[in-house]
Amino acid sequence: MSPRRRSPDWSRWLERWDLQQESFNPTREARFTAMMDVLEARLGRRFTVLDLGSGPGSFSARILRRFPAARSVAVDYDPVVRRIGQEALGDFAGRLTWVDAKLGAPGWRSALPIRRFDAAVSTTALHWLAPAQLGRLYRDLARLLRPGGVFLNGDHLAWDRSDRDLARLGRSVIDVYLRRRRTPRREEWADWKEWWESARRSPDLREEFREHDRRNAGHPKEQDLPLSGHIRRLRTAGFRTAAVVWQVFENRVLFAVR
Ligand SMILES: C[S@@+](CC[C@H](N)C(=O)[O-])C[C@H]1O[C@@H](n2cnc3c(N)ncnc32)[C@H](O)[C@@H]1O
Repeated sequence: MSPRRRSPDWSRWLERWDLQQESFNPTREARFTAMMDVLEARLGRRFTVLDLGSGPGSFSARILRRFPAARSVAVDYDPVVRRIGQEALGDFAGRLTWVDAKLGAPGWRSALPIRRFDAAVSTTALHWLAPAQLGRLYRDLARLLRPGGVFLNGDHLAWDRSDRDLARLGRSVIDVYLRRRRTPRREEWADWKEWWESARRSPDLREEFREHDRRNAGHPKEQDLPLSGHIRRLRTAGFRTAAVVWQVFENRVLFAVR
């Protein structure tokens, strides 16, 4: 008799995802909280949000737990992280919808189940988009958000080239922070590479990795458009306000109003 395989612990995959994201962004939870505070201050506690590059749904889950009347549509192009999120979180009693779409690609909006949102959010994702793709995405968001709706992007938003010293200082400060934070929990942190390698070894994700590899053949490099480039493109797309509302060096939250 062949040994029975244990059923996968999807919640553990999601938990380890959060740990590896925190390992390079130690202020990740503070940034999520700051973004949710802005959502509440601006929209109250009942709204529909579009989570762009949601990964396995870390931010959507936090939003839906904190705001029981909110809804989220989580968009991601990677079948591996989407499967983990879908298995670990489900659909939050109908409040969370998962969408497979490539942001900024022509026609991606047609995959959305609704076309009117109070807010769009994104965390650690849009730095993957090429400037032209990002411009297209911002124009699409201007159509998807209702007048007065908001966009919040928590990401690495770089200073301009002339401010390289500040960028170096920011990286050194994060290193100091990480060294100070060596608690027992710190030892559990998988880094990004270890997480992906162990996920790839999992028999439960074999099919998703086949599709992941097919889609990522020739995957673009991280683009890292400076903050000023984001603000310019948001304004061109028709956003009224576009300003930083939270930051730790280049780790920022950019807020824009439709
Ligand atoms: C570092 S992860 C962040 C995930 C999640 N937002 C979080 O904070 O944990 C970046 C995510 O963006 C997704 N992504 C990058 N470019 C994308 C695109 N053009 N369309 C859809 N998803 C994209 C990736 O698949 C990945 O899941």
